[in-house]
Amino acid sequence: MLSLVTHLHAFVKEVALTETEWWKAIEILTQAGYKCSDKRQEFILFSDTLGVSMVVDLLSHRKPEGATESTVFGPFHRLGAPEMPPGANIASLDKSGMPTLVRGRVLDLEGRPIAGALLDVWQAQTSGLYDSQDPSLDGLHMRGKFRSDDKGRYLVRTVRPVHYPIPSDGPVGAMLAATARHPWRPAHIHFVVSAEGYEPVTTHLFDSADPYLESDAVFAVKDSLICDFVRHERAEGHARALGIAPPYLTADFDFVLKPAAEGAARDPLEGQKRLAALGAAA
Ligand code: BEZ
Ligand code: FE
Repeated sequence: MLSLVTHLHAFVKEVALTETEWWKAIEILTQAGYKCSDKRQEFILFSDTLGVSMVVDLLSHRKPEGATESTVFGPFHRLGAPEMPPGANIASLDKSGMPTLVRGRVLDLEGRPIAGALLDVWQAQTSGLYDSQDPSLDGLHMRGKFRSDDKGRYLVRTVRPVHYPIPSDGPVGAMLAATARHPWRPAHIHFVVSAEGYEPVTTHLFDSADPYLESDAVFAVKDSLICDFVRHERAEGHARALGIAPPYLTADFDFVLKPAAEGAARDPLEGQKRLAALGAAA
């Protein structure tokens, strides 16, 4: 608190904050509160678009060389996604996207496979909307939980991710417009990968062909998370086995987990569960 108050007072003095500006700040914070619901968290969006989430991420998840880097959690994870068998299609209702197989292994720092790791996956639809933003859907879509097999392998069937704008009809959108910033996030797929005895990683895979990699509205791109989505004109291997008609894409990515620190078992969904409880209590 001492540090917060010191910096806050220094800010107010540095910009010589006027009473009108003070009222404006109160108005913006109040609007942010009114925008929040069980499906929308405007304060997290402020944290994300001001780069605070990524600084906290950087401080909280220092990774040894070779371990998969983390990035923002974002506001669109939902609890209760179904566990699915390898190769199951999380995009079963998305008929316009390019069929895509995301595959690889979950490994430890020595390159040994981790069997039974849980991969919690979620993604925006080709329309750019997550299921929770889409008025035509009331169930879960583009989400699933997958387990790595005894060789550490996982296989997710989906469609090519698209870039999409973060919600910009509230005070965060007004801030972006006022500072001449765009609201776009580069195409990505979200993952939380966890396994007994390892530190869970909350991360994304980004499409290397996306035009917004250099200007993500929430500063979440890390080079090590950029992945090629490779186009195939002939059905082979996994695609043939799953009956996917070409053309289709494959994205290969191995997740590398570091061992959990002694006594530091952390639930990567803890914050989200707390917010859900807050909503239920309100
Ligand atoms: C997302 O990728 O889902 C996301 C992350 C931060 C802010 C908005 C959306
Ligand atoms: Fe996202």
